[in-house]
Amino acid sequence: MCGIVGYIGHREAYPIIMKGLKRLEYRGYDSAGIALFDGKDIKLSKTKGKVEDLEKKIAEEISTQGSLGIGHTRWATHGVPNDVNSHPHYSNSGNLVIIHNGIIENYEPLKQELESRGYVFTSDTDTEVLVNLIEEIKNNEDIKLGKAVQIALNQVVGAYAIAVFDRTKPNEIVVARLGSPLAIGIGEDEFFIASDASPFIEYTNNAIYLKDEEMAVVRVNRGVSIRKIHDDSIVNPYIQELQLHLEQIEKGGYDHFMLKEINEQPHAIRDSFRGRLLSNQAIIKMSGVEDNMKKFLNADRILIVACGTSWHAGLVAEYIFEDMARIPVEVEYASEFRYRNPVITEDDIVIAISQSGETADTLAAIKLAKSRGAFVFGVCNVVGSSIARETDAGAYTHAGPEIGVASTKAFTTQISVLSMMALRLARAKGTITSSEFRQYLYELESIPDKIEVALESDAIVKQIAEVYKDAKNFLYLGRGYNFPVALEGALKLKEISYIHAEGYPAAEMKHGPIALIDEHMPTVVIATRKGHYEKIVSNIQEIKSRKGYIIAIVTKGDVSVKELADHAIEIPETFDCFSPLLTTIPLQLLSYHIAVMLGKNVDQPRNLAKSVTVE
Ligand code: G6P
Repeated sequence: MCGIVGYIGHREAYPIIMKGLKRLEYRGYDSAGIALFDGKDIKLSKTKGKVEDLEKKIAEEISTQGSLGIGHTRWATHGVPNDVNSHPHYSNSGNLVIIHNGIIENYEPLKQELESRGYVFTSDTDTEVLVNLIEEIKNNEDIKLGKAVQIALNQVVGAYAIAVFDRTKPNEIVVARLGSPLAIGIGEDEFFIASDASPFIEYTNNAIYLKDEEMAVVRVNRGVSIRKIHDDSIVNPYIQELQLHLEQIEKGGYDHFMLKEINEQPHAIRDSFRGRLLSNQAIIKMSGVEDNMKKFLNADRILIVACGTSWHAGLVAEYIFEDMARIPVEVEYASEFRYRNPVITEDDIVIAISQSGETADTLAAIKLAKSRGAFVFGVCNVVGSSIARETDAGAYTHAGPEIGVASTKAFTTQISVLSMMALRLARAKGTITSSEFRQYLYELESIPDKIEVALESDAIVKQIAEVYKDAKNFLYLGRGYNFPVALEGALKLKEISYIHAEGYPAAEMKHGPIALIDEHMPTVVIATRKGHYEKIVSNIQEIKSRKGYIIAIVTKGDVSVKELADHAIEIPETFDCFSPLLTTIPLQLLSYHIAVMLGKNVDQPRNLAKSVTVE
C-alpha cells in the first residue's frame, strides 16, 4: 500500500529515489511523484500512472538537481488516482512537502477545522490534511518541524508511514510510523528512507526499522534521533545489519519477477528447511515451537488467521495439523475474525500467516487474540515485520524477497514451514510413530527436487495456456489436501489475467457449479493418485458428459485420468499431505502464461498491491 522513499546526504537524490520507487512499485502503482530540494526551492513532479510515466514527465518538467528529496508510489485509498491526488503534497504555504503510506481516518473533522482557518485543499486526500495540520501547528506555536509533526500525529487516528521536509530548513527529513513500515538506511553522512530496505541495499547494510509510534528526525551531520510519538520519550536507535542482497531484488534474466519467483521455489523451500529439517538425525528443530512446546501440546485448538494466498496456505495447514498432530484447527479470514467477537481462550493457539508481515487485518486479528490471552505464533517471510514483532513466537519462511504481486514462493514456503511444525508436534504428541516420522522427513526433504521436475511442465502448460487463454471463466476442482490448491489456482488466474475463476471442492461441484459447465468453460482438476482418485475420476466423467474441457494435474504414470482429460500435466509422486507443494506449480505457470499471452502486467496487476496495510 504505497511505497515511500527519501534521501538526504551528499549524492544526487534523484537517481536514488527513482530507482527506489521502481523497487517499491510492488506496493502500489497507480500514481507516483517526487519532490526534490535543489538548493533554493522544491521541485515537484507527480503523475497518474506508473513510475516510468513519472520518469518521462520529470524529464520534460523539472531539473533533477539536489541532494534532498522524497518520492512516492501510490495505491489509492482517499481520492481516485489522478495527478492532483498523487503524492508528494505541499502545505498551503508551499514550505512543507509530505509523502504518506496509510490512512488518516479522522481527516474529515481535521479538514473542516483547517478550512475554517482559511486552509484550501486541492486534492481529495487525507495526506494533504495532515501536511496542513503540521503547518498550522508549526506556525501557531513557532516550533521546529519535528515537534509540529509529533503534535499533529497525536491528533490523528489511523495508520501512517510519513516523510516530510521543510523548504526553509532543508537539512532534515522528519519521518514517523504507525502501522505502516519504515526503514532508515544509515550511510556515511547520508541517510535513506524507504518502506523497505530494497531502495538502499547497494549503498548501505545498516538500517534502523522504526517501530510503531516512533518518529525520527534525520539530519545530515547529526544523525538520527528517535522519539516515541505519544509520550516523547527518547529511543536508542537499534541499527540492524541487513541480510538482503541486490540480486535477490532483481529479475535475474527472467521476464517477470513472478516467473523468477516460481522458478526459485526449490531453492526457497530448501532455505526454509535449512537447519530445521534434519532427516538423517530424524529431527525437526524449530526454536519457536520447541520453546513453547508445552503450550502447543496443551492447546485446545489452533486458530489460523490470514488473508489471500496466506489464507490458502492456512487451509492446507488445517488438513496437515489435524491429520498428523490430531489438533483441531480452524482457519479464519483475518478480516472477519477481527470484527466478529470470536470465542478465544487462553488455551487457544493462534497462528498468523503473512508473507509481508504487514497486512492490516492480520495484524488486527493478532492484537485481538492477544487481548483475549491467546498465544500467537507468526509465520512470516519479511524479517522484522510488524507481525513478526507482534507475535509471541514464530518461524520465518526464508523465501527471500517476493516482489511479484501474485504470491508464489511465499505460498509454498509457508506450507513447508507449517508442515514441519505439524510433523514436529505430531512426533511430540505421539500421533505418528518414529518410523512414520522419518519417512515423512525424507519425503518432505525430497520436495524441492520434485518441484524442479514439476517445473519442467512449463512447455506443455504454455501450450495449454494458448488453447484456453480466451476463455471467460474457469473452474478449479480439488479434494482434500488439494482443495485449497484449487482455490489458490483460481486466485492466481483472477489476479493476473482478470479471467473469472472459481475454486471448489470437487464433490461440491454437483451442488451448483455443474450448472455452468459447457464447452466454453474449461475445468482444471487436481487428480493426483493418492488423493481420492476414484472420486475425482467420477467428477471428471460428470464434466465430460456435459461437454466440458478438462485440464488435469496428474501423477506421473497416470492412465485413467489421462484417458478422460483433454490435457494432462504430470507431476512427480509424493505423499498426499505434501502434494499441494507440487500440484500448485503447474497452476502458477498456467496463470502466468495466460496473463502474458493476454498482454497483462503480470507483476503489477490492476487494483492490487503486494502488501495491504489498510483495512
Ligand atoms: C495481498 C496480496 C496477496 C496476499 C495477501 C496477504 O492481497 O496481493 O498476494 O496473499 O495480500 O498478504 P500477506 O503479506 O499477509 O501474506
